[in-house]
Amino acid sequence: MKGIILGGGNGSRLYPSTLVTNKLLIPLYDKPLVYYPLATLMEAGIDDVLIISNRRDLDRFEMLFGDGSQLGMKISYGMQEVPTGIVSAFLIGADFIGEEGCALILGDNLFHGPDMHHLLREAAKASEKGLATVFGYEVEDPERFGVAEVDLEGRVLSIEEKPKKPKSNLAVTGLYFYPKGVVEMAKKVEPSDRGEYEITDLNNLYLEEGVLRCQNLGTSFWYDAGTFDSLLEGGEKIKEMQKGGEQVAAIEAIAYRNGWISTDALKKVGQSMAKNSYGQYLLSLVK
Ligand code: G1P
Repeated sequence: MKGIILGGGNGSRLYPSTLVTNKLLIPLYDKPLVYYPLATLMEAGIDDVLIISNRRDLDRFEMLFGDGSQLGMKISYGMQEVPTGIVSAFLIGADFIGEEGCALILGDNLFHGPDMHHLLREAAKASEKGLATVFGYEVEDPERFGVAEVDLEGRVLSIEEKPKKPKSNLAVTGLYFYPKGVVEMAKKVEPSDRGEYEITDLNNLYLEEGVLRCQNLGTSFWYDAGTFDSLLEGGEKIKEMQKGGEQVAAIEAIAYRNGWISTDALKKVGQSMAKNSYGQYLLSLVK
């Protein structure tokens, strides 16, 4: 299965911090924001990832991750000239996706929790069986998001994009798993009133076909780091979570656990950052 991280847009909500750099390259506590969505895809077992960004920032991502081989992965890059909506990621990534299933994560979406690993693996398996998965999370301000209405058996009844009168508090988060054929499905989506190819419209196509699952994130933690305050709060949360010693989104550690890199490779990265808690954590896994 393939994975896409969408990091387009000009990040204007975070100006001046993002005047000359991409939102996903500014730090969330101790690592660039893009580490978190990459870690989520890696936890799902996905080792072939396309990072989509704008012309200005794409080579910065490439400086950070190269071809991905240092993580035992394949990482490639795609350009989004103009932000025309989330669904366009599947058109930009059409050749990359080929005949496989594909997960998409919005670059500023953070997921963490003890169940995540299991839920992600389950979504990847479901996509092999022809099912699409979205992840629902209870919020106080659902009108800011895609909103799912789900019945008592967990079946999705409707999904609406930023409804004025939300039918539930269940926000549809920015992580989606689709079965093979997603590129063809994406081509069927028409632009919305605001002129964007909406992910909610794609999800509704799967809903109409009766193959859409909504996985409730329950006790896991989700938020999108789109504002100054959410960046700060998110950073504090990460700091808090890491107090026990376990690092969140330490991508080399995940690659090591997945069996994608050797002990030596892990040690090398750890040693190059041995002055800080990130490097020390990687080294602690080697001992
Ligand atoms: C997008 C999606 C929305 C989803 C949200 C999650 O909204 O359109 O359905 O709930 O991401 O972060 P945006 O943040 O682009 O307004």
